[in-house]
Amino acid sequence: MKNIHNKNIVVGITGSIAAYKAADLVSKLKKAGANIKVVMTKSSTSFITERTLESISNNKVLVDENENDESFLHLDVAKWADIFLIAPCTANSFNKITSGLADDLLSTSCLAFKGKILIAPAMNPDMWNNEMVQKNRENMSKHKFKIIGPDYGLHACGDEGYGRMSSPEAILESLSNEVEKNELDGIRILVSAGPTREPIDPVRFISNYSSGKMGYALAESARNLGADVELISGPVSIKMPENIKITSVETSAEMLDAVLRKIPNCDVFISAAAISDYRPSHKLTEKHKSSDGELVIKLERGEDILKLAKETKAGLYAVGFSAETNNISDNAKIKLEKKNIDMIISNEANHQKGLGFESDMNEVCIIEKDSMLKISKNTKKIIADIILSRIAKNIKGNLIKIKNAR
Ligand SMILES: Cc1cc2nc3c(=O)[nH]c(=O)nc-3n(C[C@H](O)[C@H](O)[C@H](O)COP(=O)(O)O)c2cc1C
Repeated sequence: MKNIHNKNIVVGITGSIAAYKAADLVSKLKKAGANIKVVMTKSSTSFITERTLESISNNKVLVDENENDESFLHLDVAKWADIFLIAPCTANSFNKITSGLADDLLSTSCLAFKGKILIAPAMNPDMWNNEMVQKNRENMSKHKFKIIGPDYGLHACGDEGYGRMSSPEAILESLSNEVEKNELDGIRILVSAGPTREPIDPVRFISNYSSGKMGYALAESARNLGADVELISGPVSIKMPENIKITSVETSAEMLDAVLRKIPNCDVFISAAAISDYRPSHKLTEKHKSSDGELVIKLERGEDILKLAKETKAGLYAVGFSAETNNISDNAKIKLEKKNIDMIISNEANHQKGLGFESDMNEVCIIEKDSMLKISKNTKKIIADIILSRIAKNIKGNLIKIKNAR
């Protein structure tokens, strides 16, 4: 359970007969190197004593009364936690918390906690199967809550069925898996995607074949790893992803403006948009009338958005894309150095091979200062997952620095 080491875990305990198992659970989490704060509901204190949990967690146990001693305790608890677990969770607390109600220290802390809350229900089978409980289970935000168990078995009351709290070992395993999935928890990632359009006149523009699929796949992978993701998108026809804030832009100037506005609040910037390098020096206000002669359009160089972003935000982890048709990795390496960025994804824009622009497939090379990783032809979704895992690995050592720098 290496990934739990040094993590701040809040263990919420509620008034269930299974509360005694929380002592074993807290002890196991402590042995795995976690820092524990126990938050108990009032009713749970008649099932297990605060003193027991205080000794095992090596920390002051928080119950409702503490809220009066220290102002904003629920907010402090929520901010302190990397992981929030409620085990055991009664039917009462389950219904309350999954519906967003908050009338005691545990439920207010839950409401203020930004990450996913892990819940290990413990109740009589008739209570677990109750229509209202099941309705709340079905309707709760799957993004916000993860249910562990409950298990099938014989209950203290003599009934048999689903409702037993999962074993501390199983809860620990689930928690560890969730931490693995949440490698980018709390990290703010800005992704740009799609093409830009540079107007020639009111009805014509210069653009490229970018579909935005790679950028959208990256944004979704980052969200799945727990990051707070914002997407700046050029004109694309892709379904809006859930839980990702999107800003739509059209021209490279709008893209620049949006990136520079958002970059101060980002830790990572993945520039996957295919931004026009050149744009017409003048936009005609009237539609250009066709004639027999040649038409010459003067183009001016656009700004290097990625380079400007990197210069604007100290400590930004910046990732660029380089779509090439020849000398792919050499050109990408030159870009990496010139823009002073951390990672560049080079890919071949080749319609004949069904790769790159518009395609669902890609073949890329992840280039960093002293390494190069080739990923052979695969879906953009899988490639996005590999890129995001690599980013997570690279910034892992800097996570605390990044969070403290805010
Ligand atoms: C002996 C006893 C055992 C209980 N065990 C459970 C239980 O396992 N699960 C549950 O949902 N409620 C159980 N209850 C009912 C809860 O304690 C009650 O709903 C309480 O209000 C829950 O408060 P809380 O969610 O704030 O901790 C039990 C009650 C008693 C008296």
